[in-house]
Amino acid sequence: MNAVFPGSFDPITSGHMDVLTRAAKIFDHVTVTVMHNARKTGRHLFTLEERLEILREATAHFGNVSVDSFGGLLVDYMRQQQKGIIIRGLRAVSDYEYELQIAHLNRQIGEVETVFIMAATRWSFVSSSMVREIASYGADISEMVPRASANALRRIHADVYAEREAEKLETQLRVDGGVGERG
Ligand code: PNS
Repeated sequence: MNAVFPGSFDPITSGHMDVLTRAAKIFDHVTVTVMHNARKTGRHLFTLEERLEILREATAHFGNVSVDSFGGLLVDYMRQQQKGIIIRGLRAVSDYEYELQIAHLNRQIGEVETVFIMAATRWSFVSSSMVREIASYGADISEMVPRASANALRRIHADVYAEREAEKLETQLRVDGGVGERG
């Protein structure tokens, strides 16, 4: 059976990757679909093309995963593509209420079933928005997102990350110098 893993993926996180890895083991094929709305382009950090590029790189190692995009209702996409099941990830109970509402809605308007996959607890606090926020301050996001996302975030905030690196180097030199003096 085929499945669709829809989302904004701005950018894809390690939590998404965890859900996708589990889904790819269960379903014959999984399409990761960036759902976009031309009227809401300003809301995202990455353009649709950038998000697709990141996704292609992050999912290249799967044999049964492809990447796609759609600018409309998810149920229309499911019908057009004749894809079977919607996959959504659940990180914590707090996700449940919102996801339940969407799942019921999609079943009501499109007769599409949703399957929830629980992300590992270590990703319970990771979201694209949190990662975008901390990356804008140059924090280490390497564990929270796949390498393709981390590289893209570091490119966007290159000046902040360069500043952080310079500070780190300066501290290291001060520590090394201090050790040298004592030794
Ligand atoms: O990653 P997100 O932002 O949680 O994903 C939400 C998404 C994109 C799956 C949802 O907003 C969606 O399906 N949008 C397409 C429009 C649609 O079908 N809306 C009805 C369900 S909310």
